[in-house]
Amino acid sequence: MDAAAWPYDDIPITSKVMLPDLAILDPVFTKSAPDFITADTGIDTLTHAIESHVSRDANEFSDSYALQAINLIFENLIPSFKDGKDLLRREKLQIASCMAGIAFNNSSLGINHSIAHAIGSKFHLSHGKCNGILLPYVMEYNMKDEASMKRYAEISRHMGFAFEDDHIAAHALIQSVILLKKALSIPKNLITAGIDRNKVIEYMDYLTGSAMKDMCTAGNPVKPTEQDLRGLILRLI
Ligand SMILES: [Fe+2]
Repeated sequence: MDAAAWPYDDIPITSKVMLPDLAILDPVFTKSAPDFITADTGIDTLTHAIESHVSRDANEFSDSYALQAINLIFENLIPSFKDGKDLLRREKLQIASCMAGIAFNNSSLGINHSIAHAIGSKFHLSHGKCNGILLPYVMEYNMKDEASMKRYAEISRHMGFAFEDDHIAAHALIQSVILLKKALSIPKNLITAGIDRNKVIEYMDYLTGSAMKDMCTAGNPVKPTEQDLRGLILRLI
């Protein structure tokens, strides 16, 4: 690719030929993964499923996979983080990961991933950690759209929250994500992740420019402006 056409370090690529024909879900392969890898990959899986469910391209097929994946993650991620040798929990997370992958490959992701791609490459933070840091902030941003709020509320009710009011139900989901992050020692924001505030400001145009061009942005339920993304990133510092 011409460097002038894409002046960013991160270049997310996708193609149907990259999709696997077969996935081997054997929890033994993940037994020795350290707890922070479990946390980062687990919250990445959750982000896949939540973004898929609220995406512009969500459909009944992707929804069924996304909703089931979300429940599996909330039930099994913290226990697996605490005890990585629990192979039953590991297996459930692998299934969740595969299901969330099927979900977003049949719908799309959103700006959570777009911003995470830019921040991760510029500040060398793991993909999952970036997504985890961003997730509640992006959900709050998307909540300004009523249809998105209803989609978050659907997830919340599927998890067992019995709130009739969509706004309250959606906020219960956001609070659950915040509590999950805390339990997994995922940083609350970029400052607690050890990133220099001034560096984020310095690279702001790069980060927002890259995220706007990222392929995931088109799938986000709310069409963001570059100013919106700037506001979101500022909330992280
Ligand atoms: Fe991801």
